[in-house]
Amino acid sequence: MPLRCTSPQSRSGRNRGGRRAMGDSVVSTGEADTGARPAAGYADRLRAVLLAQDGVARVEITGDRPLSVRIDVAERIREDALARHLDDVDQVFGMMVETSEADHDTSLDTSVWVSGITRQPMDTEVMREWVDATVAAITELRPRRVLEIGCGTGLLLSRIAPDCDRYVGTDISDRVLARLLANLDRTGGRPNGLHTLRRPAHDLSGIDGPFDVVVVNSVVQYFPSVPYLWSVLDSAWDLLAPDGVLFVGDVRSQPLLTAYHAESVLATAPRAPAAQVLAHARRRAAQDPELVISPELFSRWADRHPDAAGVDARLKRGGDNELTRYRYDVFLPRSTATLPFVQELPWAELQDAEERWPALVGDRSVSLVLDVPNPRLSGLPPQAVAAVGGAAGRARADRAAGFVDGLRAAGGTVHLRWPRSQRPGLLDVVVGGPGTTPRDLLRPSRLRSDAELSQLASDPVLSRLTATLERRWHKAVLGALPEPHPHLDYDIRS
Ligand SMILES: C[S@@+](CC[C@H](N)C(=O)[O-])C[C@H]1O[C@@H](n2cnc3c(N)ncnc32)[C@H](O)[C@@H]1O
Repeated sequence: MPLRCTSPQSRSGRNRGGRRAMGDSVVSTGEADTGARPAAGYADRLRAVLLAQDGVARVEITGDRPLSVRIDVAERIREDALARHLDDVDQVFGMMVETSEADHDTSLDTSVWVSGITRQPMDTEVMREWVDATVAAITELRPRRVLEIGCGTGLLLSRIAPDCDRYVGTDISDRVLARLLANLDRTGGRPNGLHTLRRPAHDLSGIDGPFDVVVVNSVVQYFPSVPYLWSVLDSAWDLLAPDGVLFVGDVRSQPLLTAYHAESVLATAPRAPAAQVLAHARRRAAQDPELVISPELFSRWADRHPDAAGVDARLKRGGDNELTRYRYDVFLPRSTATLPFVQELPWAELQDAEERWPALVGDRSVSLVLDVPNPRLSGLPPQAVAAVGGAAGRARADRAAGFVDGLRAAGGTVHLRWPRSQRPGLLDVVVGGPGTTPRDLLRPSRLRSDAELSQLASDPVLSRLTATLERRWHKAVLGALPEPHPHLDYDIRS
């Protein structure tokens, strides 16, 4: 089935840090790369050589030293790479379930889960809490009809489907689905109304809606690109009931990606100096093969849908661990209503006014406290703190944690949100009184910045392509043009 992409995206190979790993090697490749001033007509000869290469659609050359060479990749090459990407995902997940134990507690089959920081299987207790919190976030919406895209071995499905009239689960891997069904058969049977389909996420053809909730949990990081993600969101949106919710869970946070990699560097080199850790973390972040996304990207997607009021991007519930620190859940309610908060208060005004905190837990009121220090980031090793632009010290973080605990103790329901200010070390706190429902607390908002769309997520397919194509094309240039070369700074886009 063809992909339906609403965002024909152009993207440079540069990462958020401004440099490409490949660019570094290319501008200093071999003896021919002398950094000479380009001879007359060099740019035309260079363009002709590049245009003759397979996969080059367009070449734009600007500048002098270095020469900036922007190359647009032919659509066909990108489509092939995308198909290969999906095929790899299918194979990798299939292999993971095949090589993992099948006879443990099957309601918590975490066979496809490995820590990105320690590279060890995920801690069972962390996973149990993760599952419980995610299931709670979905069941609170009281769905009777659920579509889960990328349902995996059924961590959510096995818990949610028994209370639904209809549950459709899709997954790209037949081996994963086989494991899911075997798990269910061993543990009490397949729930009524369950239907599973082997499908890539973008293919929802033949599935009839409406659904109260569409779940895409811990799946989008394996998607090949933003246009692919948007095509999936568009298709899922079409299947939602008028008051349905699209839940995109466990999204890897792009603004916190360098901090995440700093932690993973420190897991193997705990005493490395800060500058080295940061440099290494930035490199790993640039080479991260998964789709890593800024919450703002979902807001931009909502901007294009008149029946989407915005995004409610929440920090994951639960204790402090790598999943709750670096991943978030997105709620996209199908609604045009942007409900105002009863009050919006900056933390700066409240932090020293403890006597005002209880008033935030009014019966049916929903309040928003802005720019509270994120306590989960305050425990980062000092070498990783710079990666989030400075985390709050212990005392400020404890105060923020005490604030949240106090609101809960006073009977309030509290959600931690990605802050509207989008400052990575901070969060916004939504406080609902005892008379509020989970739906009342679903308050989409708009996240805005000057960032280009291409800066709001990684591009796994393009990164993979860039790595091979840039090397191949540069070699062709060196072979075809025997003259001294200026520095060439490639920027490969699609
Ligand atoms: C980490 S598991 C998550 C499973 C489940 N949603 C959960 O929360 O427990 C990711 C699952 O997504 C599936 N997946 C990844 N990319 C996919 C795609 N493009 N289309 C459909 N399924 C995909 C994988 O096969 C795998 O089973």
